[in-house]
Amino acid sequence: MQWKLSLLNENGFRKVFLFFQNLKDMDWGLKNRLSSIIKPQNNRALMLAVDHGYFLGPTEKLENPQKVIGPLLKYCDSLMVTRGVQRTSVSPNTSTPMVLRVSGGSSIIGDDLSQEDITVSIEDAIRLNASALAMSIFVGSKYEYQTVVNLGKLVNEATKYGIPVLAVTAVGKELGKDARYLSLACRMAAEQGANIVKTYYCENFEKVVQSCPVPIIVAGGKKIPERDALQLTYNSIKAGAVGVDIGRNVWQSEHPVAMIRAVRAIVHENSNVDQAFKLYNKLASEESKRKSNKPNQNKSNKPNQNKSNKPNQNKSNKPNQNKSNKPNQNKSNKPNQNKSNKPNQNKSNKPNQNKSNKPNTPKPTPAKK
Ligand code: 5RP
Repeated sequence: MQWKLSLLNENGFRKVFLFFQNLKDMDWGLKNRLSSIIKPQNNRALMLAVDHGYFLGPTEKLENPQKVIGPLLKYCDSLMVTRGVQRTSVSPNTSTPMVLRVSGGSSIIGDDLSQEDITVSIEDAIRLNASALAMSIFVGSKYEYQTVVNLGKLVNEATKYGIPVLAVTAVGKELGKDARYLSLACRMAAEQGANIVKTYYCENFEKVVQSCPVPIIVAGGKKIPERDALQLTYNSIKAGAVGVDIGRNVWQSEHPVAMIRAVRAIVHENSNVDQAFKLYNKLASEESKRKSNKPNQNKSNKPNQNKSNKPNQNKSNKPNQNKSNKPNQNKSNKPNQNKSNKPNQNKSNKPNQNKSNKPNTPKPTPAKK
């Protein structure tokens, strides 16, 4: 009996020990996952958002997610994605961390976009090796209660496994987008335990950042001219955000790779807007040149050189899909007409005076938070 009791005690002790050991490990896991999203060297983050289809369907220029994501993946720190697109359109060989959107339920044509629920189980998120889980809250909407309570529940589940949660403070037609509203929504997300809050840039954004105890990352929003999107990135960081979670302003650009590299120059290399825009233009024109120098692969007028008797499987008979000869439809060079979004042009506050446009020499910057 005595022997049995001591065994039980030992087991009990072991259980408690393992529990705390696990907690410690989970803390490590949570920190480790977070540090793959917000780089500890400079406390900055560049997230590429491609999750739009979960309520918008085949959004313009994201009709084929695989084609869009492929060339951009190596330039972002993490990818915000749904499980469907992750499984079908992202190579499992990537080392880019996945920020998995786990909420959904309503479409752009449905009754109410704010009626979202958690749609992905924690087991599936773990199977997908998610580095963070993302969901939206709709503060001030009909479904405010449901989405905020769901955030709390998601944090409960995710914390068990050391997975950070990113809360998106969704905005809609009827929801505000000013510092007062966004401060309320961001603070509520942090109070529920979100580890990162994604929100929109606004005037007096510093107030939003200062009253939110966890890192804030800024959504790009609707497509605007490239220079304006770079200014938005710059201003967000200057106001204290860790970076941007940008989608349409990258992949709806005529030159997505040039654009993400320019955004990256601001986020990770302390470039100012002029430097980043110069880099964008340089990379964009190099890309255009490369495309126009490519010999036309349309062999449709050539006689079939296939010597074998097999029917010609040469795909080059397809009409030339090279769009490079099309006139540039990029509106980005138009002067910025959007006065309200015009970020601070006060050059004296620009942190980086480094005139070099070298893109690949990240300099460590002091942590903002
Ligand atoms: C939608 C989202 C999107 O990921 C977000 O809007 C970021 O993309 P974009 O830069 O295109 O706004 O969370 O709820």
